[in-house]
Amino acid sequence: MASQLPDKLNEYLLHLEQPNNDVLLEMQSLAREREFPIIGQQCGRVISILAKAIGARRVFEMGSGYGYSMVWFALALGDDAEITHTDMDEANTAMAKEFAEKAGVSNKCRFLSGDATELLASEAGPFDAILIDIDKKDYPLALQIAAEKVRVGGLIFAHNTIWSGRVADETQDDPATKGIQMYNFRASTHPQLLTFLNPVDDGLSVSLKVS
Ligand SMILES: C[S@@+](CC[C@H](N)C(=O)[O-])C[C@H]1O[C@@H](n2cnc3c(N)ncnc32)[C@H](O)[C@@H]1O
Repeated sequence: MASQLPDKLNEYLLHLEQPNNDVLLEMQSLAREREFPIIGQQCGRVISILAKAIGARRVFEMGSGYGYSMVWFALALGDDAEITHTDMDEANTAMAKEFAEKAGVSNKCRFLSGDATELLASEAGPFDAILIDIDKKDYPLALQIAAEKVRVGGLIFAHNTIWSGRVADETQDDPATKGIQMYNFRASTHPQLLTFLNPVDDGLSVSLKVS
């Protein structure tokens, strides 16, 4: 997660907003060690605060990795919440189960392995919040399904929507950049969504379903 901010300001914010939870800190260390692309602590704060603010109970994650974003949701939401983890790599799902146990939130987590777009398409819905963090070329499809499955008044989050600034370069034609450019265009012009692209970390789009 490449921040868009000058280093000194970024360090200040990272220090100020460090999570007060040992499991999240351990998961952050692991991400640095393995160079695994978690959403980062500032995005973690944003998704958990906004999900709590709308009283979210059913949350669906598309691309959960080893569970960092899932633990942020689970720590913020009430005991009646259910956060569905999805990942196509079963090793990540196994690690996520261990971290959920360690963080004391496994009672709020459900674990699915496989393609998140297929898994979400087969769910009954509606969900209060959906996080999109899968392969970037699949973001337009993920948005289409998420917009159907989220309730009116619910939120769709999408990570990496700044893509180190490449989204603003129309000469880029790799599938990942194209996927995010298309996502940003569709999310900002979608008739049922109000969307804000927050430049925190590498970009976190927040869409409110309004109709
Ligand atoms: C950026 S990481 C997720 C990080 C996680 N959201 C977090 O912040 O802790 C992306 C994950 O999505 C998974 N993935 C990519 N495409 C997927 C798909 N179509 N369905 C399910 N998982 C997918 C990868 O295996 C990887 O673990």
